[in-house]
Amino acid sequence: MEPSIYEYPDIFRRVHMERPGEIPAEVRFIKEIWQRHRRAPVKRMLDIASGNSPHGQILAREGTTVVGIDRSPSMIAAGRRELKHENLRFYRRNIIHFSLPERPFDAAILMSETFPAIKHNVDLIAHLRSVGRALKRGAIYVIDVDRHDGITLVKRRRLWRARRVKIGALRVDVREFHRPIAWHDAMHSIYELECTIHFPNNPVRTRDLIPVRYTTPPTMDLLARASGCFTMIAAYADLSFERPLDECIGRWFAVLRRI
Ligand SMILES: C[S@@+](CC[C@H](N)C(=O)[O-])C[C@H]1O[C@@H](n2cnc3c(N)ncnc32)[C@H](O)[C@@H]1O
Repeated sequence: MEPSIYEYPDIFRRVHMERPGEIPAEVRFIKEIWQRHRRAPVKRMLDIASGNSPHGQILAREGTTVVGIDRSPSMIAAGRRELKHENLRFYRRNIIHFSLPERPFDAAILMSETFPAIKHNVDLIAHLRSVGRALKRGAIYVIDVDRHDGITLVKRRRLWRARRVKIGALRVDVREFHRPIAWHDAMHSIYELECTIHFPNNPVRTRDLIPVRYTTPPTMDLLARASGCFTMIAAYADLSFERPLDECIGRWFAVLRRI
C-alpha cells in the first residue's frame, strides 16, 4: 500500500500550500474567540487531530498547557521533536472515540479543516461526546470547517489539478483528483491527493483518499444539540469577526460551548 503524506510532516505542510504566518494568525484568532466567549482564562487546551500541533507549540511557549491527540505516530513524533516543553504533550488517539488520563480542559480546537473527514452520523456524535467528556462546563470548542460548495461532483475519477512544489532542493509532484460518490452517501465528495516525492535515488509516492462531508453552520448547530454536550454559540467567516457568512471566502469557524 502506498504511504500517506502524513508520514512526512514537513512536506505535508508545503503540499497543503500553507502560507507563512498562517498558523500565528489562526492562534491570534483563537485567543480572540476565547476572550469574547469564555469568561475564565484558558489555561489548558486540547488540540484535536493535532498532527505536530503547530498551534499548540505557540500556545505552550506562551504558558498554556496543551495536549495534542492524533492517530499518526510520525506526526506526534515530529511535534515532540520540534518542541520539547513541559507544557506540551501528545497521546496517540482516534478522535472519534477517546478518553485521556488528564484533568478537564478549558478549551479545544480542531484545525486545518479535518472535521469534514468524520464520516458517519454515529461517529460525529461519538466525537462530540468524547470531546465533551474531556472539557469543563463552559469550555469552548473551536472547529475550522472548509467551504465545500464549489467542489465539482464527478461520475468518474478525474484529475482536478497538477502542480509542482519545491522544498529546498527537493521536488514534489502533486496531483489532485476528484472521485465519484453515491448520491445517498453521507459525504459530499472524495478528494484524492497523490504526491511523488523525488528523494535522491529513492522517489516515494504517497496517496491519501480524503472523503469530505459538507458541514454548514445549521448542520453544526444540529450536531451540537444532538450530542447533548454542546451548544453552537457563533459562526465566523474566515479569520474575521466582521465578515458576514454570505461573504465567506474559504472556510468558517464554529464556536461550540460545553453545556
Ligand atoms: C491536516 S492535519 C492537521 C494537523 C494540525 N492540526 C495542523 O493544523 O497542522 C490532519 C491530522 O488529522 C489526523 N487525523 C485524521 N483523522 C484522524 C482520526 N480519526 N483520529 C486521529 N487523528 C486523525 C491526521 O493524522 C493528521 O495529523
